[in-house]
Amino acid sequence: MGKFNLSHRVVLAPLTRSRSYNNVPQPHTILYYSQRASNGALLISEATGVSETAQGYPNTPGIWTKEQVEAWKPIVDAVHAKGATFFCQLWHVGRMFDSAGKTPVSSTDKILTPKIGDDGTVISQFIQPRRLRREEIPDIVNHFRLAARNAIEAGFDGVEMQGANGYLLEQFMKDKVNDRTDEYGGSLENRCRFVLEVVEAVVNEIGGERVGIKLSPFSELGECGESNPKECVHSLEPMRKAFNDGHNYGEWSSSMRLSLSAKSKLGLIDGTVKVSLAADSRFP
Ligand SMILES: Cc1cc2nc3c(=O)[nH]c(=O)nc-3n(C[C@H](O)[C@H](O)[C@H](O)COP(=O)(O)O)c2cc1C
Repeated sequence: MGKFNLSHRVVLAPLTRSRSYNNVPQPHTILYYSQRASNGALLISEATGVSETAQGYPNTPGIWTKEQVEAWKPIVDAVHAKGATFFCQLWHVGRMFDSAGKTPVSSTDKILTPKIGDDGTVISQFIQPRRLRREEIPDIVNHFRLAARNAIEAGFDGVEMQGANGYLLEQFMKDKVNDRTDEYGGSLENRCRFVLEVVEAVVNEIGGERVGIKLSPFSELGECGESNPKECVHSLEPMRKAFNDGHNYGEWSSSMRLSLSAKSKLGLIDGTVKVSLAADSRFP
């Protein structure tokens, strides 16, 4: 995979564990990841917050403080000692947030409907999000950039942006959520603008060969859907232009989770970016 020598195509998917107390990875995480590492393997870490405002679930790790970076170091070392490659998944939950104490930010001020269990009880009651102001967006882009730098400082081989499953990046991309009227909403190009700015900033910081993004164009998780699912393939159009990978998305099957090598056509990206797609039952 690019400059990384992998011995097989079985990848550890990013799996949230909620065991990083106070958002700091704990020493027991060394055992968890080293048990899953082997020579020539690729591991992607659990989703890891890029800033305090990016967090939405209790005890998920972050990578915006010195303490967090230092805590990741022995974990990454243990994975490397087994001969594996380790990418850190960077996320911002946006409006997918159900704890009191702060106002989540999003592309929108539309609140998620509460999650109701089979017995009719409310499992999650979401908090009213606040639509990011135009002038706040560069700060969030910068948080991804700094988090990517921190990930490299912690020893990770690269980062994967969480652009799937209803979180902030997807809240900008999908038209059932993004109701903005500025240059970050409306057309597909506009809805992909924030994500491409994040990708560009991160690539400029750590190099394209170390950067990936996870997308779930057909998923409706977190009420992040496209109004015309039949045209979902086209939701990747700006990404395709940016990454110039020339792949025929229509041929992908439902069980695929792909990493593609891609280069910039728009001049945004200097190097190779990996794009992985979350499998989804609504894949054509
Ligand atoms: C417990 C659990 C935690 C997960 N946490 C994350 C996560 O932190 N980041 C992420 O991108 N996906 C997460 N996922 C989704 C998985 O990475 C994966 O996409 C999903 O299980 C489907 O696997 P597949 O795409 O390989 O078929 C999680 C899934 C489970 C079951």
